[in-house]
Amino acid sequence: MIPQPKAVIDKGGYVAIKSPAPTTSIDDSLPSEAYILDIDASEDGKVHVTGGSAAGVFYGIQTFRQRLPPSLLRRGSSATGPWELPAQQIHDRPRFAWRGVMLDVARHFMPLHDVLRFIDLAAFHKFNVLHLHLTDDQGWRLPIDGWPQLTVVGCWRRRTMQGSAQHELYDKRPHGGFYSRADLEEVVAFASERHMTVVPEIDMPGHMQAAVASYPELGNGAEVGVMEEWGISEHVLNMSDKTLGFCRDVLTTVCDIFPSEFIGIGGDECPHNEWKANPDVQRRMKELGLPDEDALHGWFVTQMASHLRSLGRRAFGWDELLACGDGIPADTRIAGWRGIEPIKMAAQRGFEVIACPDTAAYLDKRQSEDKNEPTPIGTVLTPEDIFAYEPVPAGLSKDEAGKVIGVQANVWTEHMESMRRVEYMAYPRLCAFAEVAWGKSKEDDTVAGFQDRLKHHVLYLDALGVNYRPLTGPRPWDARPDAPGKPRTMEYRMAKQSKFIADLLKH
Ligand code: ACM
Repeated sequence: MIPQPKAVIDKGGYVAIKSPAPTTSIDDSLPSEAYILDIDASEDGKVHVTGGSAAGVFYGIQTFRQRLPPSLLRRGSSATGPWELPAQQIHDRPRFAWRGVMLDVARHFMPLHDVLRFIDLAAFHKFNVLHLHLTDDQGWRLPIDGWPQLTVVGCWRRRTMQGSAQHELYDKRPHGGFYSRADLEEVVAFASERHMTVVPEIDMPGHMQAAVASYPELGNGAEVGVMEEWGISEHVLNMSDKTLGFCRDVLTTVCDIFPSEFIGIGGDECPHNEWKANPDVQRRMKELGLPDEDALHGWFVTQMASHLRSLGRRAFGWDELLACGDGIPADTRIAGWRGIEPIKMAAQRGFEVIACPDTAAYLDKRQSEDKNEPTPIGTVLTPEDIFAYEPVPAGLSKDEAGKVIGVQANVWTEHMESMRRVEYMAYPRLCAFAEVAWGKSKEDDTVAGFQDRLKHHVLYLDALGVNYRPLTGPRPWDARPDAPGKPRTMEYRMAKQSKFIADLLKH
């Protein structure tokens, strides 16, 4: 079973299970996501799940589904039972409150049914947050009241880079799409039925080239289309009243669609070169009495966080926000991604933090050194590497450690052109991440134990039709010689860490 339950008490003997649907009840003296799964030897084939809430019941049912034969997960099955299971009582509860997975639908648009499928698989692994990265330089994916060009211009690009940037290869095909409001409401409802919260993200004030392509007055004077390359665009939002009004309109619409307490406002990778060269931005900075562009960035974030607060929500953003000066609101939740250090720093500064370091939680990285791994970028990140990841950094006090309230795996889709590829990159690594997020009992915390569980678990992935990376390595059709990558070593990656830390220590 993945993730593995915390405590399994054997009662002795086997039970013939007649129905794959257990009876359920709620006992609110249990923690809300906890459950007890009772496979009872004394009463003929009786299986009961007691949850601390409906979410706990849901997790107990997922555990039970993973004890029954995999064939029962197929969309058609003639199996009728009974099924023999050991009589057991399972007591289980998660380690982390935020067990997230981020899906980037901006770099490659994923059709609605693919997003629903992604949610269904994540919920099966007891994740409870889908962070939906809805906008970026390469595409805008939702309609915003009063700003129609976003889904006329901003959601399409003429062509797409194939592989990483230095190869300068492109396909010859337009790409894009957007979700209607009804689509997104369906995503929210479908996730909620599976006890997942959808946390939408509108990345600002950088990663906004698709918006600037739609409304040039939001930018700093450059005439641009929707970006066709991978990398970080220089074309960011200006800081005019109109642009701030645009951002508030966007967040208001987003809050109308998504009930989540947290709303992602990005804040990462915003080059300040256009701001330095734009006299209007410089004038605004002076009028506000701000010393530099980092402070202006912080001021912008604070404006957006206040707007969210006026709508009864809280801001969620990447760890670059820590470099934005003193101003960012204390209730902002930080996603620490540039290695371990920013996670530690956010917790030490009193912010709630979600641990998603690129060194352990970025599923766009290659899964092995095999030359047939598709578009190999970054460092190698195997399921075993992920399994061994400990999200609470060493050296934190108990109170600071308590600020690490969750973990998240991030699926950036520059090099994932379809859900078939997303599944290849996500699984089985999300299985390892599920164990990190749900937490492991001491006796289950061995890589060999995880590898054994995984060998059995892939039978369930097979039954669900998941295009996971085979444990033996890529198949011939997984290779992408037409989209070459840029592999890196961990030494190369760690050499960049001191730059990130210097950036964060600026303020
Ligand atoms: C990020 O990977 N730019 C958050």
